[in-house]
Amino acid sequence: MPKISVKGNSMPESPIRKLVPFAEAAIRKGRKIYQLNIGQPDIKTPSVALDAVRNHNIEVLSYSHSAGFEGYRNKLANYYKNHDIPVNGEQIIITTGGSEALLFAMGSIADIGDEIIIPEPFYANYNGFATASGINIVPVESKIETNFALPPIADFEKLITAKTKAILICNPGNPTGYLYTKEEIDQLAEMAIKHDIFLVADEVYREFAYDGAKHHSVMSIDKLKDHAIMIDSVSKRYSMCGARIGCLVSKNKEVIHTAMKFAQARLSPPTFEQIASEAALETPQSYFDDVIKEYTSRRNLLIAGLKSIDGVKVATPKGAFYCIAELPIKNADNFAKWLLEEYQLDNETIMVAPAAGFYSTPNTGLNQVRIAYVLKKENLERAIEILKNALTVYKD
Ligand SMILES: Cc1ncc(COP(=O)(O)O)c(C=O)c1O
Repeated sequence: MPKISVKGNSMPESPIRKLVPFAEAAIRKGRKIYQLNIGQPDIKTPSVALDAVRNHNIEVLSYSHSAGFEGYRNKLANYYKNHDIPVNGEQIIITTGGSEALLFAMGSIADIGDEIIIPEPFYANYNGFATASGINIVPVESKIETNFALPPIADFEKLITAKTKAILICNPGNPTGYLYTKEEIDQLAEMAIKHDIFLVADEVYREFAYDGAKHHSVMSIDKLKDHAIMIDSVSKRYSMCGARIGCLVSKNKEVIHTAMKFAQARLSPPTFEQIASEAALETPQSYFDDVIKEYTSRRNLLIAGLKSIDGVKVATPKGAFYCIAELPIKNADNFAKWLLEEYQLDNETIMVAPAAGFYSTPNTGLNQVRIAYVLKKENLERAIEILKNALTVYKD
């Protein structure tokens, strides 16, 4: 039998998707499942994006430029300018989702055995991208008690070694929902410059900031021009997860030149999806106003509901559409499986993402789950009721 690679064997499973077989078995038993585990919004994709694809009569579905359509990149740069992110089309590479942009970024700035420091808990697939790139993630702990605010800079500096190539942040955070303040972004910028390392910011949830709070991009800081790399995506902004379009943005010419070589190796991003993404830029502001209003009320409902359950501790999110909740249990992996395999309330149950997979420190976050508030309010309400009941029945 030919052997699987060490790298292949060490690729982590997604904590978000690994419970799917249990969910499928529950559905086969006729159970209804409220999916709180995955960041798939139920919000409609803007019609302007879908119409652009419907009304296109392409005769040859050809490759595009490796950096993506020039017209799209230029329009996207205009969009960013309106968000205090002064960039031009040449500083943007269109990628197959933010996921590919993360891979290109890691490939461009770190070699095998190099280190990237990331506040944890963090988006679980960073583990997968780092493993695929041969990079070691060095976690720095952020705490539920502070809603997962930026850890003290001294905690980062303790971890910086000759192998440290970058700090990676997710802003607003998945899974924490934390939105970094201007002061926090400035502190990170100072540190990146002082140690001459990259500051990579995953800003795929930029537009999802609540309570009137403003998002601060690393790309808005002029003196970070050589150190900042931004990751972005249309997946969440326009509820276009299936389009698989994202981008890598940097003012550092060498980063763009290097990432372009990765882009050339995979030829080009998908064509129809670029057409949809370019058209999506015409989405009226009213769409976003409605979406933010909807997510704000879902968040308020969820957080109040979770806080009303005995023994549950929750960090209040200021952005994105996730929260981390600490439950009065020992092991969320077992609990999440039990919810799907054994538990039901009037033939209904919930699916949550055990949070341990969002940490890289072993045995951390064991009693925590990530909950996505991507369901309609009546469904969220029912899901909270189910969780409350399940916790009264569950035995660790
Ligand atoms: C923080 C974060 N970054 C990147 C991605 C990848 O997004 P995509 O590849 O769909 O653009 C996701 C998807 O959920 C995410 O939550």
